[in-house]
Amino acid sequence: MRREIQHSQAPLAAQDGAGVKINRLFPVSGLDNIDPFLLFDHFGSDKPGDYLAGFPMHPHRGIETVTYMLEGTMEHKDSTGRQGILTSGDVQWMSAGRGIMHEEMPKQKEGRMAGFQLWVNLAARDKMNPPDYQEYRAEEITKFSHEGNQISLITGELLGHRGVVENVSTVPLYADITLTAGRLVLNLPEHHHAFVYVFEGETQVVGASNEAQSAASPRLLILSEGDELVFETADHARVMLAAAQKIEEPIVRWGPFVMNTQEEIEQTLAEVREGRFPPQ
Ligand code: FE2
Repeated sequence: MRREIQHSQAPLAAQDGAGVKINRLFPVSGLDNIDPFLLFDHFGSDKPGDYLAGFPMHPHRGIETVTYMLEGTMEHKDSTGRQGILTSGDVQWMSAGRGIMHEEMPKQKEGRMAGFQLWVNLAARDKMNPPDYQEYRAEEITKFSHEGNQISLITGELLGHRGVVENVSTVPLYADITLTAGRLVLNLPEHHHAFVYVFEGETQVVGASNEAQSAASPRLLILSEGDELVFETADHARVMLAAAQKIEEPIVRWGPFVMNTQEEIEQTLAEVREGRFPPQ
């Protein structure tokens, strides 16, 4: 069964961190999440005033945060002692588990800064795991071409290839795909939730009835269930594709903390207040 576009929407201009201008795909009014994905932001600007404030030190619990850079340089530090520089094409996959403090600050004073931030939920059984961190340079990310389309596979399995990020409990697929003229047929696990974000050019998703639905950038597409995804592109498009197992548990958010109950949020806030966060 081919997947179809079930819902599509344009990004919403928003601010995050210390005032960084972003395009938010979700959560927005009417779309809280695409279980297990909790947040998806596209940042991209060549005006330093839009990004220089960065994302100063802040906590997380209960989720994984994924930063994928398209352009520019960001420096990150976290409470596990990890520190590094993230530049064009690099990815960092951070599992906050029971708690982490981190910051991401621009390492450039001018020029273009662009990329994506994705939050992936953790199931109740994984929310209080120790924090984990994986970082890969652009050249370490699985890259291949298929019928003229260029695919950077961050995590998951696609067309017989395996992404570089491993051991994520929701078994996600996350890929940056540059589509060229023609058709690209991908197989996806039938019941995984999936979305596509078209951020360059225009493409079409060809559904079961062979009907093509067009999508021009910038556009978020939520896909129906199915084991096949067919893109048909006239000229050029670039998309991020994400899919993963649903968790199907209650979601209670308080900013950077995402738990299953209000009580767990209260406990987390008490730990922060009393200086016990992140727990050792
Ligand atoms: Fe963060």
